[in-house]
Amino acid sequence: MRILARELSACAGRQVHVRGWLNNLRTFGKLTFLLLRDRTGLCQVVIVNKEELGKLAGLQPGSILSIEGRAVASREAALKVEIVDPTIQVENPIREVPPLEYYKPEIHSDLEFVLDHRPIALRNRQLQAVFKIQAEIAHAYRLYMHDTVQAVEYFSPNVIGASSEGGAEFFNVDYFGYTATLAQSSQLYKQIMVGVNERVFALMPFFRAEPSQTSRHLSEGKQFEFEMGFFNHWHDVLDIQEGCLKFILSHLHRHSKTEIEILGNQIIQAPVDTPFPRLTFAEAQQLYFERTGCDERNEPDLSPAAERELCAWSAEKFGTDLVFVIDWKTAKRPFYAAPKEGNPELTNTFDLLCAGTEITSGGQRRHTYESMLEGIRLKGMDPAHFGDYLSIFQYGMPPHGGFGMGLERLTMTLLKLKNIREASLFPSDQKRIAGNRIKAHIFFGGENIRNEIIRLCHKRNLAIDHVTHEATPTSEDSARVRSTKREEGVKSLILRGKNTKKNYQFNIPSNLKLDVKAASDLVGEKCEFEEPAIILERFGIQVGGVPPFGHLLNIDTYFDEKVKEEKRAAFNCGLPTESIVMSMLDLISLVEPKWGRFSK
Ligand code: 4AD
Ligand code: MG
Repeated sequence: MRILARELSACAGRQVHVRGWLNNLRTFGKLTFLLLRDRTGLCQVVIVNKEELGKLAGLQPGSILSIEGRAVASREAALKVEIVDPTIQVENPIREVPPLEYYKPEIHSDLEFVLDHRPIALRNRQLQAVFKIQAEIAHAYRLYMHDTVQAVEYFSPNVIGASSEGGAEFFNVDYFGYTATLAQSSQLYKQIMVGVNERVFALMPFFRAEPSQTSRHLSEGKQFEFEMGFFNHWHDVLDIQEGCLKFILSHLHRHSKTEIEILGNQIIQAPVDTPFPRLTFAEAQQLYFERTGCDERNEPDLSPAAERELCAWSAEKFGTDLVFVIDWKTAKRPFYAAPKEGNPELTNTFDLLCAGTEITSGGQRRHTYESMLEGIRLKGMDPAHFGDYLSIFQYGMPPHGGFGMGLERLTMTLLKLKNIREASLFPSDQKRIAGNRIKAHIFFGGENIRNEIIRLCHKRNLAIDHVTHEATPTSEDSARVRSTKREEGVKSLILRGKNTKKNYQFNIPSNLKLDVKAASDLVGEKCEFEEPAIILERFGIQVGGVPPFGHLLNIDTYFDEKVKEEKRAAFNCGLPTESIVMSMLDLISLVEPKWGRFSK
């Protein structure tokens, strides 16, 4: 029967069977030490027999081995017991050299390289420890919310009809030809669920179209959600947040000792009997000013530097790395934040800062229908998008509040990691989707595409003539306003494959017509013209403005052989009222299209 590395210490003197991955081999004279990795750690196997050693010739880390041998006490082995006289069976030989040395205690490559090889890098002991701890954090959160707070877990949708936090940081997705939104949080649903179960919690994905690349922002993450009704005071929410965090920490100290050690015992301080200090936003700004001389007292928000300073203060003064900042300005909080009684400039909201970074936002919510309508309108949003959500206020909601705590932010700050990407298995940001570098850049909207075309031309020092004109319904009109010949115009047509529903772009001289059959034959499926409304929705471009740069829209782009007959190219550059005239060869070198014959 297979035993695990963890169990080896208790097996001295016995014949044992282990299975796992070859981690590494080291030879000292006649002795070869093999480290075998399984889900509980590494165990050491000592090989003397040449025949057994021969089986490992040329094998790389990652090879799957099954080993039987005798467990004996050993002073040197990390587990104090090692396996000798092994019989080795190679279950799956691997001869590929791994792209990075994950089998060493620590990977020394930089984060970008580690992310480029994420699936393999995660096998490293330190990376594994981070995510084992993350799993324990999630487990502890559930235990606390279920057992202590007696809240009910909910599961809410992620593809939704409207932004849940307002602002511009959300993603739209094409949903059967309609535009849907990826949830920025499950805010609306947790409030709806308060109307059902009073106290609710969740661990839910969130999506944010974060415009900047920082060490603490991801575009996809997980949030610990919590919401409760019928509090005595809205600070009850802070009490639960504080209790929850202390519970998570003590859970980790009990259940993740080994992993914390592997990470060098870097974990934040939050003594159980030390309350997290609670500063108002105004006090926090004042304190930052007094400690550093940096005056941000008129700013609506705390800067990252101020957040770091406030945590440093809390650590120095109270020995805890956490600090609450409460009573934030209305301008900086979402539409649902409850205004402070008697002072609508402020809200009953809080952030929890941990070791220099915000990990949680929360607070009391507006809970009457009129107040919620007002909140939505004050932020310039449209109540019509909030039908389901608004109905709960029409049919009765108690005073309520809650919080959202980022899983990756919490993991990062608890373990004092430098970059949030280290706390996400497959991080997405502006440069990566699920850990993979984004290769093609997709541009949305006529202006963005025009800017990108111009940027590309400038970058390559290509001469262009950029003209603004009236929208032109026919190619004769276009030629007139651009002062070019009709055949120099490049007409860009977007089609849709009937089978795959994929879009294709076909570009032809504007004095000719598209031969749809020839185009269909070229791509191997029947095609038809895409609808103008879909083109607008999907690419943000009006039909008269489509430029011959389909690759910027991430669609396969074909040029008709006939366009090569002209020296100059003229085309709309994203907008019906703007054109670019440039050399045809330059255009071709920029677009690198596929070629075919599909004009008539
Ligand atoms: O502060 P946020 O945006 O607040 C909300 O989502 C509210 N619905 C919370 C509430 O109940 N009032 O997000 C909450 C937390 C942040 O403090 C942060 O930990 C994490 O979610 N978070 C992010 N983490 C990484 N990258 C991002 N782009 C994040 N956006 C939010
Ligand atoms: Mg926040």
